[in-house]
Amino acid sequence: MKQKKNVIQFAVLPPLLISFLFFSYFFSNLQLKSFPPSPSNDSIYAFNQTPFAHTKFSILIGILTRPEKYDRRHLLRLVYGIQRSPVADIDVKFVFCNLTKQEQRVFIALEILRFNDIIILNCTENMNNGKTYTYFSSLPHILPKRYTYVMKADDDVFIRLNQLSLSLNPLPRIDLYYGFVIPCSSKNPYVDYMSGMGFLFSWDLVEWIGKSGIPANETQGPEDKLVGKWLKIGNKAKNRFSDKPAMYDYPGTNGRCSHELIPETVAVHRLKRWDQWFHVLEFFNVTKQLNNSKFFHL
Ligand SMILES: *[C@@H]1O[C@H](CO)[C@@H](O)[C@H](O)[C@H]1NC(C)=O
Ligand SMILES: *[C@@H]1O[C@H](CO)[C@@H](O)[C@H](O)[C@H]1NC(C)=O
Ligand SMILES: *[C@@H]1O[C@H](CO)[C@@H](O)[C@H](O)[C@H]1NC(C)=O
Ligand SMILES: *[C@@H]1O[C@H](CO)[C@@H](O)[C@H](O)[C@H]1NC(C)=O
Ligand SMILES: *[C@@H]1O[C@H](CO)[C@@H](O)[C@H](O)[C@H]1NC(C)=O
Ligand SMILES: *[C@@H]1O[C@H](CO)[C@@H](O)[C@H](O)[C@H]1NC(C)=O
Repeated sequence: MKQKKNVIQFAVLPPLLISFLFFSYFFSNLQLKSFPPSPSNDSIYAFNQTPFAHTKFSILIGILTRPEKYDRRHLLRLVYGIQRSPVADIDVKFVFCNLTKQEQRVFIALEILRFNDIIILNCTENMNNGKTYTYFSSLPHILPKRYTYVMKADDDVFIRLNQLSLSLNPLPRIDLYYGFVIPCSSKNPYVDYMSGMGFLFSWDLVEWIGKSGIPANETQGPEDKLVGKWLKIGNKAKNRFSDKPAMYDYPGTNGRCSHELIPETVAVHRLKRWDQWFHVLEFFNVTKQLNNSKFFHL
């Protein structure tokens, strides 16, 4: 029935439109062919020649945090609220499990009324008991639209949205797993898994996590490591990109995962203290965009 209907519609399309459709189809095939899902380690370099560069794409960044971390959400809303990207539409949301206190139901309702940037999953707050699985597997059911990419980030990471989107721009839109590969010293994105500081999937992998029995069966343990295991068992994520040295842990906090702040940074992790946030925000000139005004002097 469905097929027949399509054929009839096609027959009444004007010839111009038909040739347009033909060319669109032709070019979309080309795009796929230029990214053979080759697991060769060199394949990451091939991503530089891209046919995607002119299409705006979208990213959902889910920051996994806990209901009572009001102050951290305040800071992160400021940090992400003033950033822009010319190549991607980026939504940042805070993700936690069920509320447990009556006061949270009031204060978090206030936040939702004001910001509408909170997702409360059906789970009990935990770090390594499946929150990340619940996050990704719930999204296809609860989101009103699909995103090109979905990221999971920690609440102690500073992400530069413009740099993140520029680094994603030339990469494949399907079967992609992006982040900071573990072990720290490795540059091979196929060797193991991406650090929990912030990793990203293309939408098809988010759907796969929701549907496949493989992730559902492996939810207990370190969340980032488990993700690597799912993809290995499922033979998924042929396209991988480890964004080193642009992603790293704050200087001096985690051995070979740490290095000095550098201009081309995408993300800095392990920002636990105010002085670390201050250092990072100052280094990246985050507030330099402020102009003089009669209202204040800084
Ligand atoms: C939440 O999860 C529990 C099991 O953990 C299930 O029994 C319940 O139906 C779920 N509720 C919703 C609203 O999905
Ligand atoms: C979370 O809260 C919902 C709504 O109150 C409830 O249906 C669900 O069972 C809770 N889930 C867990 C895992 O506690
Ligand atoms: C590519 O990665 C694999 C691990 O997936 C590794 O065994 C192999 O040595 C790497 N090859 C090169 C050329 O780096
Ligand atoms: C789930 O995992 C267990 C233990 O790793 C394994 O024995 C079982 O076959 C798995 N089940 C499915 C449906 O993958
Ligand atoms: C911050 O601004 C200073 C002064 O304009 C400049 O020298 C420096 O390169 C900027 N830093 C970054 C990371 O863009
Ligand atoms: C600062 O002034 C410039 C030039 O007038 C303007 O383009 C820019 O948007 C202003 N920045 C802010 C944060 O208002």
